[in-house]
Amino acid sequence: MNKLIFSLPQNNPLALALADKLKIETGLFEIRDFPDGETYLRIDTDVKNKTIILICSLDHPNSKIIPLMFMAQKLKELGAKKILLVSPYLPYMRQDKQFKPGEAVTSVLFAKFISSFIDSVITIDPHLHRIKNLSDIYAIPTITLHATKPISDWIQKNITSPLIIGPDEESLQWVSDIAKNSNASYVIAKKVRHEDRKVSIEIPDITDDNKTPVIVDDIISTGISMSVLIKQLLSKNIKNPICISIHALFNQEAYKDLLDVGAQQVVSCNTIPHFSNKIDITDIIFEEIKALIV
Ligand code: R5P
Repeated sequence: MNKLIFSLPQNNPLALALADKLKIETGLFEIRDFPDGETYLRIDTDVKNKTIILICSLDHPNSKIIPLMFMAQKLKELGAKKILLVSPYLPYMRQDKQFKPGEAVTSVLFAKFISSFIDSVITIDPHLHRIKNLSDIYAIPTITLHATKPISDWIQKNITSPLIIGPDEESLQWVSDIAKNSNASYVIAKKVRHEDRKVSIEIPDITDDNKTPVIVDDIISTGISMSVLIKQLLSKNIKNPICISIHALFNQEAYKDLLDVGAQQVVSCNTIPHFSNKIDITDIIFEEIKALIV
């Protein structure tokens, strides 16, 4: 077999599931921190002339990016033919514009950096807002997959009579698909972000209050967007929403805040390992890689 799967720490469940489905072996390596925090890396599998599927979700990216770069560069130095990065969560997509003079447009800088040591990227629902396609900023081939199918399947299986709610205009791209696949209707709120932890949200009138409100966003980070939306719904007597996030960037505190403010349940896709992961995206990555490698 001329392919191998490598995965950086924390990505092993997804890597093992993919290895099993694709019938591809996983590569062996040792990685650890020296006492001073620098990275030690040793590859222990012959990678010469092999295509490497390198799994590394890049939430909280700053501590992950150096080990990823060392790994990709060492694999290449040992003769690997190509490095396909599977990063279910692709970071640095939100600062996509210079709002104040002197600001770094980090989405562009990060894309340039990744493109310098990776050959191609597969990701799931990157935060595309003002940048419409990854190819606008990445110099290497990129494949964008969508979690809408597994999310719709989960909704159909677990929620009777859902009403899908998008927290802002950008969410229309996934909310409309999810609503269609789940035979549900949807509404889209209007969000204005004032600061990192301050947003205001307006929701249109919801006439049918017999439905289960299901808020779907691409990212929960601080949880502020979801919690302001939940409060708005409560002010209209719409209670017990279910909150779904594709990427669970949030910590225990944000998760608990959402439940405290009135969420019935908070669930996420396993693009980032988190205890709220209930929606499995393994199959959409598997199908894509299978199609690429036949
Ligand atoms: C931004 O526009 C995204 O779609 C999310 O709504 C946002 O990242 C959520 O962030 P937070 O949880 O910090 O409000």
